[in-house]
Amino acid sequence: AANQMWGGRFASGPDAIMEAINASIDFDRRLARQDIEGSRAHAAMLAAQGILTDNDADAIREGLLTVLSEIEGGRFEFSAALEDIHMNVEARLRQLIGEPAGRLHTARSRNDQVATDFRLWVREQCDAAMDGLAALQGALLAQAEAGADWVMPGFTHLQTAQPVTWGHHMLAYVEMLGRDIGRFRDARARMNECPLGAAALAGTSFPIDRHATAAALGFDRPMANSLDAVSDRDFALEFLAASSITSMHLSRLAEELVIWSSAQFRFVTLSDRFSTGSSIMPQKKNPDAAELIRAKIGRVVGANIALLTVMKGLPLAYSKDMQEDKEQVFDAADTLMLALAAMTGMVGDMRANVSALEAAASSGFSTATDLADWLVRVLDLPFREAHHVTGSLVAMAEARGCDLPDLSVEDMQSVHPGITGDVFDVLGVHNSVASRVSFGGTAPDQVRARISDWKERIG
Ligand code: ARG
Repeated sequence: AANQMWGGRFASGPDAIMEAINASIDFDRRLARQDIEGSRAHAAMLAAQGILTDNDADAIREGLLTVLSEIEGGRFEFSAALEDIHMNVEARLRQLIGEPAGRLHTARSRNDQVATDFRLWVREQCDAAMDGLAALQGALLAQAEAGADWVMPGFTHLQTAQPVTWGHHMLAYVEMLGRDIGRFRDARARMNECPLGAAALAGTSFPIDRHATAAALGFDRPMANSLDAVSDRDFALEFLAASSITSMHLSRLAEELVIWSSAQFRFVTLSDRFSTGSSIMPQKKNPDAAELIRAKIGRVVGANIALLTVMKGLPLAYSKDMQEDKEQVFDAADTLMLALAAMTGMVGDMRANVSALEAAASSGFSTATDLADWLVRVLDLPFREAHHVTGSLVAMAEARGCDLPDLSVEDMQSVHPGITGDVFDVLGVHNSVASRVSFGGTAPDQVRARISDWKERIG
């Protein structure tokens, strides 16, 4: 039988393969709530404009609530023959209220309908991402506060560079996530315009009020061009781009947790709640959650590339290609929210091994820069010469298998006669970090100041 929604000109129904490639109901059922919200706003507007009678609009709006409760209660029978969520909902509405259901689609197309539904859905996900990011920031801030003055090695090239504080390292991620929140906020603000009323592509001859539907659905305004309204998915791409960058940040932190929890580093202990064992090696406690977070970015960036690839080269306005937007975004959003929750749990639970951090910070000639700076400050050497003198001392210590503070004053004077015993003050890691008082530096006082800035911002 021909399709009951659009089959007027068709003599036969679709081939089974056609139905299989065309139907989106298996995934776009996730838009049910947004679809019904949009339809209810549309029906109310049609009545207010005198396009529908109040009776019909009331029946439609009530009936849609019944449909929603059936769907949310798991009592709804989805049909692939009805293709998508829009037609599944409308067909059920017709069963419930009869003829007035057929009037709901006046001055509307599935093209503006799906664009509206999907914007509402992605807008909610922006809010969820911001909430998830704020929760992770909270966990990192708590870690930073606990260890504002714990000393650990800072790395470049994953080689010991200079001592830093644990709090400073945690705050580095708080800053990154703060920018991530900003990206979701920006994307949300830009996407918050309503496509509804663009109809198929050209607008409509009915006297609709697009400002009313936009306001009813919490949008700032209607989209200003009907072709654009039904045919762009840049809002979903912005969500995926922001999600990709956030996933990249999570992946870097995850990688650090994997390294730090290894027996060779022992910087942190991850909780049992966020670790797993091995079925053969009884001693194992593996950082699987961190590894999975490190890997999940593949799905998110994959979705971003997939949707960009779908959209490139599409002529205006709507093409069915765009139905491929949803699974990518659904999967990326689910992945992102799960990764954020897992990371928040792991960071909240993890315990730093303060003595291992400090021991690591004290090895690897980590205060060589402090020594060079001392030669500049106290002996007035040009920095290049100070660098060279310090390098010779590092080579001497390395040859002896000791660290810089283990050399004697005489050893040091053999390289530069001006060096005095005062130099040992700057070779300790605590003095080193305490000296980094430039704005944004690693000194504990700076870290505490930044923590209170963040607490004020987060409120
Ligand atoms: N299921 C479709 C989608 O996701 C809805 C829009 C269909 N519009 C159309 N003219 N076939 O894009």
